[in-house]
Amino acid sequence: MFEDWYLSELISKKIRDIWKLTDYYLLRLIHDILKKTEIDLFLKNPITINDIIEKKGYSQNVFSSLKWMFDRLVLDGYLQINDDKYSLTSKVMEYELDEIKNKSYKEAPDSIAAFNMLKLMADNYPDYLAGKKTGVDIIFSPENINITNEYYSNNLFYNVHNIAGAKILNYDMEGRNNPTVIEIGGGLGGGTKQFLLQRLAENKKIDNFKYYFTDIANKMLRNTRKDLLLITPNLSAFDFKKLDFNISLKEQDFPENSADIIWGVNAAHVAYDLKVSLTQLYKTLKPGGSLIISETVRPIGNTMIQQEFILNTLQDYWKVKLDDIRPRYGFMDWKFWINALEKIGFSKVETIPDMEKLEKIYDNCYVTIIRGIK
Ligand SMILES: C[S@@+](CC[C@H](N)C(=O)[O-])C[C@H]1O[C@@H](n2cnc3c(N)ncnc32)[C@H](O)[C@@H]1O
Repeated sequence: MFEDWYLSELISKKIRDIWKLTDYYLLRLIHDILKKTEIDLFLKNPITINDIIEKKGYSQNVFSSLKWMFDRLVLDGYLQINDDKYSLTSKVMEYELDEIKNKSYKEAPDSIAAFNMLKLMADNYPDYLAGKKTGVDIIFSPENINITNEYYSNNLFYNVHNIAGAKILNYDMEGRNNPTVIEIGGGLGGGTKQFLLQRLAENKKIDNFKYYFTDIANKMLRNTRKDLLLITPNLSAFDFKKLDFNISLKEQDFPENSADIIWGVNAAHVAYDLKVSLTQLYKTLKPGGSLIISETVRPIGNTMIQQEFILNTLQDYWKVKLDDIRPRYGFMDWKFWINALEKIGFSKVETIPDMEKLEKIYDNCYVTIIRGIK
């Protein structure tokens, strides 16, 4: 039902074309990082990551970031790997940063936030590798925060998560009478804004439901409220409440069996113990209630998701519990999500639209909505 919409409107031709350019841009940035740090000199001969770490005096903490960059270059043939030893190939890096960025800007000004964020990270990577800066220093420092905010709130590639999640939320709400909705990990409110904008565009009411916008950070609640007021003065259906989904929701005044819908955009994967959090969400839903989660997933043709270049630098990214429902760090395959919700006890678990069908047509379907019913 939503398959055509997904491939024609959501992941539009513009996104498909420009996404390739961001990938070329990233390859060039990684190439330049290796040059700036003189790691490229070591790579003239086969060498392991641990040997590079030792020779450069880096901490083991940067192992995964280095491995990710090397593996990304291997995918496009700039490096080769044999027995855990990496070395340069003869392939020459021909992509030019400004040329790619200007071309993208001309075709899609709203793609620029992604380029700016990648560049910000790359400029700081030598310091990050040398232990002079952490990912948090780079991403959340006052002088860089605008680039980060733009990346999450005004970014062609990221906004698809908000648009898709809100669309399925609105679809699910259609059959419900005065539903109670809880948004988890709402952050800067990108999903909420889309939810409201879609309702207003379709002349749907914005006060025939109860909406709890939640996040673990109070600052997010205040900022999002302000931003939503720019869209409409009527926020009578909205409440802004702090909620930590790593612990009991009941003890945070969200009673069991009280919500018709719980939804979140790129929030659920942040949970420390996914089993615990999904169980809490399950308990909070009424029987027949929906859990709707919009998540970045690992597409079959793009298993190394660009965002990882950024997220790899954050300690929190690695501080989650792995188990049978979360078998790996970071973004999961959509099939893992289906399995996770089913194991918790949700029924009729599905991706909307149907990823099985989509993947046969396009191999970079990097966003999906997983819905399960209690
Ligand atoms: C990747 S961001 C997504 C934010 C927003 N939904 C979006 O798509 O822009 C994850 C959000 O989860 C929040 N968060 C992190 N840990 C949380 C927790 N234990 N409980 C609730 N929210 C949490 C963060 O503050 C952040 O706003």
